[in-house]
Amino acid sequence: MAISNLQSCRPGEGGVSLTSKKLLDLLNKSIAREIQVSVQYMWQHVQWAGPEHFAVSDKFEDIAIEEMKHAEKIAERLWYLGGIPTTKPTPIIVGGGLWPMIDNDIKAELEAIELYKEVIKVAKQEGDNTTKFIFEEILEQEEDHHDFFTSVKEGKRRK
Ligand SMILES: [Fe+2]
Ligand SMILES: [Fe+2]
Repeated sequence: MAISNLQSCRPGEGGVSLTSKKLLDLLNKSIAREIQVSVQYMWQHVQWAGPEHFAVSDKFEDIAIEEMKHAEKIAERLWYLGGIPTTKPTPIIVGGGLWPMIDNDIKAELEAIELYKEVIKVAKQEGDNTTKFIFEEILEQEEDHHDFFTSVKEGKRRK
């Protein structure tokens, strides 16, 4: 496709999408879950109770902010590629008490890791190196989050 044909490629302009619907849908699925975990972890930070929760409360806030930055980064990419970022999160599960929260969060991070490996695979198949690079960076942070939540749980087991 000639570059000149791509110049008006923006939503609402009847432009030509720069990428496949499959990849655009995966990016929107990723945004939905980034919004989910951003709110989920921030409300877990807000709803802390007891000394065990106090020890990790600030970390919930830090991770929540990182997740919102992921949502922004993916939304910027999706918009550039001709899609419209969703405003709807996947279901938010705050959970009652620290340990149910941690179990929910480990599950959420595992889902993110699985989804982002899929995004990287599809982006690579489509020759979209930038999307691939963006998700490789995000994936590294999701693995850090997974490591943190599983380490908290591991600490409980060792008592
Ligand atoms: Fe994230
Ligand atoms: Fe995460």
